[in-house]
Amino acid sequence: MKCRICDHEITPFMSFGKMPIANGFLLPDQYDDEYFFELKPAFCEQCYSFQIDDQPDPELMFHDQYAFFSRTSKFMQHHFSEYAAWVCDNHLSGNDLFVVELGSNDGIMLENFAKRGIRHLGVEPSANVAEEARRHGVDTIVRFFGPETATEIVGKHGQADALLAANVMCHIPDLNGIAEGANRLLKQDGVLVFEDPYLGAMIEKSAYDQIYDEHVFMFSAISVANIFDPHGFELIDLLPQETHGGSMRYVLARKGVRAVSPAVTDIVKAEKAAGLHLPETYQHFRENCEASKARLVRLLQEEKAAGRRVVGYGATSKSTTILNYCGIGPDLIEFISDTTPIKQGKYTPGKHIPVKPYAAFAENYPDTALLFAWNHQKEIMQKEGDFAAQGGKWLTHIGDD
Ligand code: TMP
Ligand code: ZN
Repeated sequence: MKCRICDHEITPFMSFGKMPIANGFLLPDQYDDEYFFELKPAFCEQCYSFQIDDQPDPELMFHDQYAFFSRTSKFMQHHFSEYAAWVCDNHLSGNDLFVVELGSNDGIMLENFAKRGIRHLGVEPSANVAEEARRHGVDTIVRFFGPETATEIVGKHGQADALLAANVMCHIPDLNGIAEGANRLLKQDGVLVFEDPYLGAMIEKSAYDQIYDEHVFMFSAISVANIFDPHGFELIDLLPQETHGGSMRYVLARKGVRAVSPAVTDIVKAEKAAGLHLPETYQHFRENCEASKARLVRLLQEEKAAGRRVVGYGATSKSTTILNYCGIGPDLIEFISDTTPIKQGKYTPGKHIPVKPYAAFAENYPDTALLFAWNHQKEIMQKEGDFAAQGGKWLTHIGDD
């Protein structure tokens, strides 16, 4: 395959096998038509970007039944209010500001700008979540962002001071189109600010479940700089985040227009020390994934042999990679509890484990809970003290016990 960024020939360094759509929760009468593709990550030795080889059509992933609502997590609501405040305090100034967010989901971030009376526009391809955003007072258009959408927005609203994104940029195969869109949309001193799960954190924890259909890229600062450089942008700031199991916030501006924070040099140095630019790092990662798989399957089989009930906690998109890569089905996990109504009563993609409302977990504790929403660990441990107090055990696929 060719690198999506620089056209260099690249070869996947491993395969996670056949995968369904990560957010494709379904009913038994849909099993026969379930879509599968082979999930294979690759690393480009020319521009250092980490990407998956084959990706299903965007229409199969982002549509009017899209099962992911950002607003379901209180912690994320708090996170986005801080994200918005940080952008306002550090990277925006002047009057009559105009801020655009791409992939604005249910408006969880933009509502913080709406409350400040800042002109804003969300660009969101999934009609159902866009509708939810409008209910929260967030102006939203149902579109994929790209050069044409940027031109349309400029025609209607003028150029923007900031283009924002969160957990979206890594979903987009044509980042050159996004960069071109940013070029048209942003004022001369405008900023592009986005955050996504961080390659450095994934490699450090062997958190391979970050790799699924929607995450076509996992970024490092080094790769982000290389992606936007040909379009005239440079990294001017970086801020590591705890969200999604370790994320990075990137700020880019047109070259030479804004001061560059020392964080940029520091983090690029740390990435080189961790070998994020070296192919052997990914061979080592592959070995760690195989070890993690063997461990998790062994632990679940031990639970089963001991007659203990195991329930999954959080039917996350990430869990689709774990369940399908490790071959874990309803024989090892009774059901997965999840607070998102649209997932409840359905079955997990590929392995068809039932998804039940939270009450199914809380009203009849299992012996062991496999924490698929491990990235929300802090929030979940705070509210689930009773489970552990009654002898309940937590498991994750991350760890080496
Ligand atoms: P995410 O990891 O992609 O943010 O998805 C989290 C999923 O976990 C989402 O479907 C909601 C679910 N969830 C729970 O069921 N209980 C919780 O306490 C939290 C935080 C999330
Ligand atoms: Zn490349």
